[in-house]
This record gives sequence, structure tokens and C-alpha cells, in this order.
Amino acid sequence: MVCRSRLSVVIFIATSAVLLLFLFSFSEAVSSVSLDYAHKAHNYWDSNFKHSSSLPQIYNCEDPYRRPGYLHIDPSDYKNTRWVPYTPEFLDAETPWYAEYPPPKNADIFFNQTEPEWQFLELPSTPKEWMKLARAEHDRRTKSLEVEAKKQKAQDFLGVKDDGSMGWLWGRRLLIIGDSVDRYMMQFFCEEFGRQMSQPGPHTTALCEIPSLNFTIIHWHFPGSFTYKPDWWWMKDMKEIAFEERWNSMWAPMLDKHVRGKDGRPDLVLWQNGLWDQRALWEAGEAHFNGSDNVMGTRERQLVWDEVRFVASRMQKLAEKLNGEFGADVPAMFRAITIHRDSNATDANIYELDRIGRAVAERNGHEVFEWGRLVTAMSMLYRDKTHTDKGPASWLWGNMALEYLARGAGIRDPERSPYFNGWGACHKQLVHWGGR
Ligand SMILES: *[C@@H]1O[C@H](CO)[C@@H](O)[C@H](O)[C@H]1NC(C)=O
Ligand SMILES: *[C@@H]1O[C@H](CO)[C@@H](O)[C@H](O)[C@H]1NC(C)=O
Ligand SMILES: *[C@@H]1O[C@H](CO)[C@@H](O)[C@H](O)[C@H]1NC(C)=O
Ligand SMILES: *[C@@H]1O[C@H](CO)[C@@H](O)[C@H](O)[C@H]1NC(C)=O
Repeated sequence: MVCRSRLSVVIFIATSAVLLLFLFSFSEAVSSVSLDYAHKAHNYWDSNFKHSSSLPQIYNCEDPYRRPGYLHIDPSDYKNTRWVPYTPEFLDAETPWYAEYPPPKNADIFFNQTEPEWQFLELPSTPKEWMKLARAEHDRRTKSLEVEAKKQKAQDFLGVKDDGSMGWLWGRRLLIIGDSVDRYMMQFFCEEFGRQMSQPGPHTTALCEIPSLNFTIIHWHFPGSFTYKPDWWWMKDMKEIAFEERWNSMWAPMLDKHVRGKDGRPDLVLWQNGLWDQRALWEAGEAHFNGSDNVMGTRERQLVWDEVRFVASRMQKLAEKLNGEFGADVPAMFRAITIHRDSNATDANIYELDRIGRAVAERNGHEVFEWGRLVTAMSMLYRDKTHTDKGPASWLWGNMALEYLARGAGIRDPERSPYFNGWGACHKQLVHWGGR
């Protein structure tokens, strides 16, 4: 007994020492700034907030992008866009004077254009500004190099690959199986790093390589659930529709050269299915029930049950194919579907397709990338009737993609431990469908 407790004391002291050392070196190198903020925040809570006895809560296994929150868009600079989750610190914060009841005498209460108080932005639970960190490091690396942008290769940056605490991104591969909405996000991401995305042809594949970070994004165009190319297919220049055929003819050839990263597989897989199936299911109905009273010939309708079964089976096949190819423990996420800029009853089936995706993701051990839902109804962020534009939406997308890559890479942020201790550390708590 005595021995054992002495042993545990020793272990405890040893662990604490290691932890302290780690905390110290980590905070020195990486987050002296944010710790500083944490102190400031602490003082602020003490003087201003009701429940001020503790530091802002450690976020453990919560995914901040899946918490209810506020999309902070800075009107003067989209590069300040951030998701601010509503935490206990927020909900228990002191009542602002303008919400007091009874109101002040002769009150005329109206609201001005205001932004979140920095105390909320600096909470450890508010996701990091990864795009800023990555961009700043990219700028430093490329400025020190005398090679023109087009000719840069990852090789040129080997000597600086660990600088700026961005070494974890070196060699990472992000695989997207999606549509033009994803492709635009990827293109805009590339442009932020001074790169161009390349495509062998429309609706096939796309590739973006950022040599300064040795970071690669691969896009496989996924045209929905159909198992063959029907006569009524509206896009005549597409040869193959079924993902099995696309896999063999255009996707598999990219696997070794581009998709498999340092672990022999992609570091994050984002897949989705929505707008192409929406269109295909409408077109199928119109081709067979045009001019009749049958609801199948209309676009303001729910999915019918056959369609639900059809899409669910096909998505199951896709998820199984991905797990079979990359392993069931590959970090993979279902990307929540975006609706149209002017969305009405015709988009009812988008939400239905989205729910199928969430269920299939959960079934196959994939998590949910909520980006599409975080920008829902923000039609001012669209470039046309279907696609979100470069700006707040794409910056948010980048911040999110990098945060999940960092999680998979296991960067170990003590402020949010164990969230960043590798994909598996919190995966069990996060594999549920999402609640939206
Ligand atoms: C908005 O600004 C006006 C003018 O400065 C001020 O009188 C008013 O109290 C402000 N509203 C709030 C909610 O602070
Ligand atoms: C870039 O990353 C890949 C792994 O994704 C790796 O095979 C390659 O060697 C890296 N390039 C350099 C120059 O280090
Ligand atoms: C359906 O009918 C309308 C009008 O009758 C026609 O304009 C449209 O091209 C038809 N669509 C299909 C898919 O046949
Ligand atoms: C929305 O609904 C109205 C009325 O049914 C229709 O005229 C309009 O085209 C719809 N808008 C879109 C974007 O589908």
C-alpha cells in the first residue's frame, strides 16, 4: 500500500514536471500571446462577470464549429472572419445595460454596428485563426526565397519547413470529394497563398499545391448518386457519372502521386453530396412525368422514399469505398450542404439530402464539417445563385479545414487538450451526426 502510494506520488510529480515543462516551452514558443490574453481575460472575468471564479473553461473534446455560435464577419476585412461559439462565459456574462429591466429612464434603445468583445474572441474555445498563421508563415518563407512564385517547389523550403510553428502542415494532403462549391473554396484558398488551381477538364478533378507549406488539396468532382449516364443527363460533355467509373478512370491515377501523404493516405477527407443529386432527381422526374399532374415532374417537393433509399445506398457505398481505400480510421468528414442563394421550397430536398449524408457519415465513422450550415441563408456571401464567394465564407472554410488538419496532425494545444492530440483523441465523442 505504502509503496504503491509513494510510487503514485512519484509518478504524479514526474508527470507534473513534464507537463509543466511542456506547457512552459509550448507557451513560450507558440502561444505566449494567447496565454497573455488568457490572463487579461481572467482579470476581466473577475471584475466584470458573475461567475468569475475560474478561468474560461478548457474545451476538452468539444468541436467549437459544431457548437451554436456567431459568425463574426468584420465588414472592413474578411480575413478577420471567425466562428465564436456561445460558451458559459458568454451566456453567463453580465447583463448589458440595454437589456436591463426595467429600462433606464427615458431610454431609447437601439443598436449600433458592433463587433464581439475581444474577451470572447480570445477565449480558448474560440477557434484559432489558422488562415492568418499559415498566410503569415507562407509570406515569410516566400519572401526569403529568390525563386519566382511559379517555379517554387517544396524542395526549396525544406530548410524552413518547421518555422512559425507550422511544421505540422508539411506534407499534408486534403482530399475533397464534392462539387463546384468545394472547388471554389479550394481555388480561393490557393489564391490566398498566391497559387493557381489546375484542372484537366471541367467536372473531373482539380489540384492545388502550395510548395511553401508542402500542402496539397485534391478535388474529385462527385456528380451525385446515379449509377450510369441517363439520356436526360443535362450536361452532355460528361462521360462518366457513376463514382465507381470515375474512381477507376480519373481518381485512382492520382492516388500515389498526390493523394497519399506522409502516412500513405490523405490527412483529411471531406465528402458531400447535395446539389448534383438535387438536379438529377428533378431532371429524372421531369423526363418521365413532364406535363402530367404527377408531383414527380415538379421541383417544389420532398424527396420520395425511393429517392431516399437510392441516395442512402449510394452514399453508403461511397463511404465504404473511402474506408476500404484509406482505412476506417482515416480522418473523414461529411461537408454540410450549402443551399441556393435564393432558396425556397425547391431547396427542401437539399436539407433532406444533407440529413442522409449525416446519417451515412455517422454510420461509417465520419464526422461533420458544418461549414455549409454556418453560412446558411447568408445570401450576401454568394457570388451567383449557387456558389459562395471568396471572402468571409472562403476564409471560414480555410480556418476550418486547417483546424481539422491540425487536430489530425496532433499538434497538442494544452488550452484545448485533448482535442488536438490526434484525430482519435476525441473522435468517439464527435462521430455523432450533429444535431442540425
Ligand atoms: C448606439 O450609439 C448611440 C450614439 O452613440 C448611443 O446613444 C446608444 O446608446 C448606442 N446603443 C447601444 C445599445 O449602446
Ligand atoms: C512533401 O510531402 C510529401 C508527403 O505528402 C513527401 O513525400 C515529400 O517528400 C515532401 N516534400 C519535401 C520536399 O519534403
Ligand atoms: C417539359 O415540358 C416543358 C413544356 O412543355 C418543356 O419546355 C421542357 O423542355 C420539358 N422538359 C423535359 C425534360 O422534357
Ligand atoms: C421560389 O418560389 C417561387 C414561387 O414558387 C418561384 O417562382 C421561384 O422561381 C422560386 N425561386 C427559386 C430560386 O427557386
